[in-house]
Amino acid sequence: MTRSGKNPDKRVKTARKRSASSTRWLERQLNDPYVKQAKADGYRSRAAYKLIELDEKFHLLQGVQRVVDLGIAPGGWSQVVRKKAPRASVVGIDLLPTEPIDGVTIFEMDFMADEAPERLESALDGPPDLVMSDMAANTVGHKQTDHLRTMGLVEAGAWFAIETLAKGGTFVAKVLAGGTDTELLKLLKSHFASVKHAKPPASRKGSSEWYVIAKGFKGRD
Ligand SMILES: C[S@@+](CC[C@H](N)C(=O)[O-])C[C@H]1O[C@@H](n2cnc3c(N)ncnc32)[C@H](O)[C@@H]1O
Repeated sequence: MTRSGKNPDKRVKTARKRSASSTRWLERQLNDPYVKQAKADGYRSRAAYKLIELDEKFHLLQGVQRVVDLGIAPGGWSQVVRKKAPRASVVGIDLLPTEPIDGVTIFEMDFMADEAPERLESALDGPPDLVMSDMAANTVGHKQTDHLRTMGLVEAGAWFAIETLAKGGTFVAKVLAGGTDTELLKLLKSHFASVKHAKPPASRKGSSEWYVIAKGFKGRD
């Protein structure tokens, strides 16, 4: 039996070297309908459905022309952007390698590196109208440290958005534990016409991830 009390379709034998938590992860992957759907639809990650669901609710991809994908690997979100807005130019960045995607410029580098923002900007032929961040820091298992690390990435993403977005643009980012820190929320509210939170159905119930959606960038003047 799984922890939810349901019998999974597929059970994984506990290999001697596999820890209980990675066995649980593998079992969850094998029985996850979003993983199956992603395979059928040709998406590289189940995360693709989070963006699809956020787009259904907030119309993030409507008419976008230039998009920045922070934490692009393995590429599900950019695949969704290219499918919904085939003419949009997209630039993405990740610490990890990402297989090429048609119409997407990919940098394999740390977004926190000094030269990263400029590289991203210069890969587009104008200001982005959507900056999205699905970045998550590698967890160390210490809740507070993990929270601070991921929120550091979100904050850097928010500043990047504020410094580059076209007027009216959108910033969407993964945040942790029920929402956005007060300071970050204040920052976003002062630069965007609307700031909302959502947990798309594809986001696992047990995870503390949420998304912040800031729309209507007010501009830099
Ligand atoms: C949940 S995954 C993104 C999944 C992606 N949205 C998709 O649909 O395929 C988060 C990614 O953030 C990346 N990441 C974490 N810290 C980063 C950093 N400092 N710079 C660039 N990428 C980073 C990780 O390497 C990881 O690939």
